[in-house]
Amino acid sequence: MDEGIDYKARYGDWAMVVGASYGLGEALARELARRGMNVVITARGHDKLALAASRIRDDFRVDVKTVAADLSDPGVLDVILAGLGGTEIDFLIFNAALEHGGEFIVQDVERHLANIQVNCVAPTVVVHHFARRMAERGRGGVVISSSLAAAQGLYAWSSYGASKSYENLLGQALWFELKRKGVDAATFMIGSTYTPSFQRNQKLRQTPFAETRTPEGLPEGTPVPQDPEEAAANLFAQLDKEWLPLIYANPRDEENAGKMAALTLAERITLSSEAVVRSFEAAPGAKSGEPQLM
Ligand SMILES: NC(=O)c1ccc[n+]([C@@H]2O[C@H](COP(=O)([O-])OP(=O)(O)OC[C@H]3O[C@@H](n4cnc5c(N)ncnc54)[C@H](OP(=O)(O)O)[C@@H]3O)[C@@H](O)[C@H]2O)c1
Repeated sequence: MDEGIDYKARYGDWAMVVGASYGLGEALARELARRGMNVVITARGHDKLALAASRIRDDFRVDVKTVAADLSDPGVLDVILAGLGGTEIDFLIFNAALEHGGEFIVQDVERHLANIQVNCVAPTVVVHHFARRMAERGRGGVVISSSLAAAQGLYAWSSYGASKSYENLLGQALWFELKRKGVDAATFMIGSTYTPSFQRNQKLRQTPFAETRTPEGLPEGTPVPQDPEEAAANLFAQLDKEWLPLIYANPRDEENAGKMAALTLAERITLSSEAVVRSFEAAPGAKSGEPQLM
């Protein structure tokens, strides 16, 4: 960590990570606490929130507040504001997402609409509120978590990828807009990361990653998911130096994105979608080539 940056002096006292009771969100909250900021962590489940909060308090000696709020609730901003009780947020990471997978026409339309609610409507409403207040104060930081599934159309992740593409472009546009008002913003571009949510999905599909991050006998070239702590540390290593519009969680993913950029769009969609088909075929519980719903 760059000792030169005083996060509290630069941004303010309080950070909030939306979706931070475990996994990547918790790791992001811990990086903010490591940099001396007090943190608000939100999620749906009270018990895991309380546990994560006490771990952060014990390890970093900062103030931690928890707010239970469900991003699928159209009134989620009011719930968060009530939970904050007037605490101003100076640094916001919108991390949580809904990740329904499966063929577009096979899934019920309600699942696509749920992706849009949690991954598009909720970040719009929450980021709009807090970024506007940061701009009024002339300082702040905003990070929006996106996904490599947003890099091109992706088989079986159609509406999830499309919703993460919305977040990707939102963060990039805010990088420019908010900088003019003294507020830093960026998109956090994330590839496969071994979070409890990721593991849950692997269990559903009975993939080799269901039980361990590093299974033996993986086909050559299969990327191993990174640890959430590593992804969070990579984000902050970059933020400590310079805010770029798009920051990759893993240098390997940035390298691959560079290689993919040389291909045509049709090639990129086909290559990445065929990898998804293969992963479904490799799952022992799956019917050949047929993606299971998540
Ligand atoms: N993991 C990966 O491989 C991967 C890959 C690409 C991109 N990403 C992106 O990285 C971010 C985090 O990924 P992750 O899924 O692995 O999860 P994670 O960081 O483990 O986050 C899950 C957190 O969000 C909360 N949460 C989940 N659904 C919520 C809802 N509807 N309302 C409020 N809080 C909710 C969870 O608590 P509760 O369950 O108690 O609510 C938990 O605290 C997401 O934006 C995802 O799109 C992840």
